Amino acid sequence: MESKKIKAALLGLGTVGTGVYKLVHKRADVMVDTIGAELEISKILVRDINKKREGVDESLLTDDWKEILADDEIQIVIEVMGGIEPAKTRILEALHAGKHVVTANKDLLAEYGGELLDAAAENNCDLLFEAAVAGGIPIIRPLKQCLAGNEITEIMGIVNGTTNYILTKMFEENMSFEEALAKATELGYAEADPTADVEGLDAGRKAAIMSSIAFHSRVRFHDVYIEGITKITSEDIAYAKEFDCVIKMLGVAHNTDKGIEVGVYPMLLNKEHPLASVRDSFNAVFVHGDAVDDAMFYGRGAGELPTASAVMGDIIDVARNLKYGCSGRISCTCYKEIPVKNFDDVKNKFFLRLQVKNEPGVLAQTAKVFGDHKVSIQRVVQKHVEEKAAELVISTELVKEYHLKDALRELKEMDSISEISSIIRVY
Ligand code: NAP
Ligand code: HSE
Repeated sequence: MESKKIKAALLGLGTVGTGVYKLVHKRADVMVDTIGAELEISKILVRDINKKREGVDESLLTDDWKEILADDEIQIVIEVMGGIEPAKTRILEALHAGKHVVTANKDLLAEYGGELLDAAAENNCDLLFEAAVAGGIPIIRPLKQCLAGNEITEIMGIVNGTTNYILTKMFEENMSFEEALAKATELGYAEADPTADVEGLDAGRKAAIMSSIAFHSRVRFHDVYIEGITKITSEDIAYAKEFDCVIKMLGVAHNTDKGIEVGVYPMLLNKEHPLASVRDSFNAVFVHGDAVDDAMFYGRGAGELPTASAVMGDIIDVARNLKYGCSGRISCTCYKEIPVKNFDDVKNKFFLRLQVKNEPGVLAQTAKVFGDHKVSIQRVVQKHVEEKAAELVISTELVKEYHLKDALRELKEMDSISEISSIIRVY
């Protein structure tokens, strides 16, 4: 008996596209058992059709999107080109043509996820995007399905491999930021332009997507407060060690009575916290739900095959839905409209390093400015005392971001303070 065939088109044959192509071929022999049909990549859209592509059937390559769109046999479009346009238009056109879409495109989903999911629902199509957050780590499907019985109040994670690698090397091998970034680039973790990694933009996009799903309310990229790791110094790392902490760049989101709080920034994290042991380029997402309590998802957040693993899982899901005629079963899950709080109103604890004059009364003046601005000090350590200068290392209690900003603005104006060297949040 001739088995059925599901045809799919790949848009993009870079790191992820190549991984997906390889994995589809590697799993070909189990597809009939898995989805009740053979799975075939029947066309591959690329920008440069003349580029040499090792191990790929060149007859499948095309640079003409219309050829794919018009092909009624293609039921699944796998978008792994990246960027906003033309990816957005192509996904919308595919959905309007009744094709199901799998994508890894976090940039697009973090801005236009709502619009794309609405288009999928209108056309009874699947739009799945497991690879968009934390690469190979299952997190979108667990949030939408396995944890659907929970009210999730916190989701936070290490969702950028490059920055985690850099911070690990700075912490464990005393590498400088520049050295560690060069190594991360050499190993292929960083994007061609690493700005999106080190300035926190990549993690910010992932934080927007995962908090939208966790809290059932749309959070867009521009709602996320973002700070990268470029200001972290070896001195900060030394203090973190002294305080039994590590420094990690975290995407942190809370659903509070007054709205969603969401940001990406480096944090001092106690060594006992489960995320503190996530090293090198690994990612992890930590979720707190009212029923499950704490759960953590750990693994490879990027790379050819880990990311292809997530894409392949989505393709298999689409194919199973096709088999049972239940496509579009789980679409947009943002059925609430919770405001995102202005980040100035969010409370955090801080670690601060101040370079001050070594004179009587300076500590008292500094403490007064903090007190005047409702910043409660937890501990002060005075280090590196020279004849005329000293370093004050201050930890605060929970304080509203704008109160701390006001205090620091006033401190910067004082003659007795020459520099505010570090401002790092503490988990
Ligand atoms: P990549 O290596 O830069 O590959 C992009 C591919 O898309 C290339 O094959 C390119 O064609 C093709 N392409 C780009 N623009 C095109 C256009 N206008 N028309 C036709 N083809 C076009 O990117 P990647 O690292 O595989 O990432 C793909 C997506 O996965 C992105 O959304 C990324 O954020 C996401 N993602 C990546 C990872 C990862 O580890 N890399 C992890 C999770 C998610 P040519 O080959 O002809 O240049
Ligand atoms: N550059 C990204 C990272 C790749 O370092 O995590 C996956 O999004």
